[in-house]
Amino acid sequence: MKFKFDRELNTQEIYATGPELSETMGHDRDENWNRIYEYPHTKEELVTVLDNPVLMTDDWKLFNIKDYIARQTVQLLLRKPMTIVEYDGLKMEFEQGKYHGVRSPNIDTLLFCRGIKDLDYSDVNSLIEVGSGPGFIAKYIGSKSNNIKQIVMNDINPNAKKYFDDTNVDPRAEFVLGDARKFLEWKHFDLIVCNPPYIPRPRAIEDNPYEWLELLIYLIKNFNKTRDWRQTSLIINVSNLADDIINPILEQSWAKIEQLDEMEVPLKVGNVLNNPEWMDYLINQKWLKDDYHDGHQYRQKLRILKLDR
Ligand SMILES: C[S@@+](CC[C@H](N)C(=O)[O-])C[C@H]1O[C@@H](n2cnc3c(N)ncnc32)[C@H](O)[C@@H]1O
Repeated sequence: MKFKFDRELNTQEIYATGPELSETMGHDRDENWNRIYEYPHTKEELVTVLDNPVLMTDDWKLFNIKDYIARQTVQLLLRKPMTIVEYDGLKMEFEQGKYHGVRSPNIDTLLFCRGIKDLDYSDVNSLIEVGSGPGFIAKYIGSKSNNIKQIVMNDINPNAKKYFDDTNVDPRAEFVLGDARKFLEWKHFDLIVCNPPYIPRPRAIEDNPYEWLELLIYLIKNFNKTRDWRQTSLIINVSNLADDIINPILEQSWAKIEQLDEMEVPLKVGNVLNNPEWMDYLINQKWLKDDYHDGHQYRQKLRILKLDR
């Protein structure tokens, strides 16, 4: 199935694509009545349109599609192996279960892209997406600028590298596997973008250094300290759940900070929702909003921030 979003994220179109046309959409015979099993994924048919998306897969909205056939069809398509995400001309394919731990773009990824869609990239020669996963943001910026000579994607997950090796067609792009905090030391990039892990967790450092906010904190603290005097901009995604931790670090960075975009989104991470200690911490010590409406109970606010010297 394909999720296609308009530039302003006002609508989310849902399509059946490729083999789904013969498996689900009834296009299973050609004009000579021969059976058709497959179509290329470039062939597609619109199933339904959702307004004001706040999640990539919003179960409540999907269960409440008024048209019965469209509702059932979407449920069938959700079980298919291929998901395609399209935003502002960039289309990426994700085969479910093939690249474990690589998170396909979510609404935060698209909010990030909406926030940066009208920026001027004419002075950007080198770009890195830190914690890139499949690299949707880096590829999006790459698709908007031919000036960029070097596009680096970086993640600690070896499957993100595998995804890159299997799918990349941009000769400017490379993938660096490993901890960004080691890789970025002594490196210069004109633009650093990062949609990092952003939900604070109690006792996170002892549990797992890659969860929580360490990457975000490292980037804010260090981008201003580069040994290279050329200009670097840093664009990040920050959750209001981490305001008490991140805001003082932002203030101490002496950076010029511009808010590019913001959105309130439901919190739908299974590992958080199912962890009572974590939920209690977010509700009582952070600002997780407990307010049931439109099918979702818990909400956070995401902000896309641009830091310049
Ligand atoms: C919230 S996901 C975002 C993925 C992708 N950028 C997107 O927007 O869809 C955060 C990513 O950061 C990666 N990550 C976490 N800590 C890292 C580190 N120290 N160095 C490099 N990548 C890291 C994770 O493996 C994960 O892929």
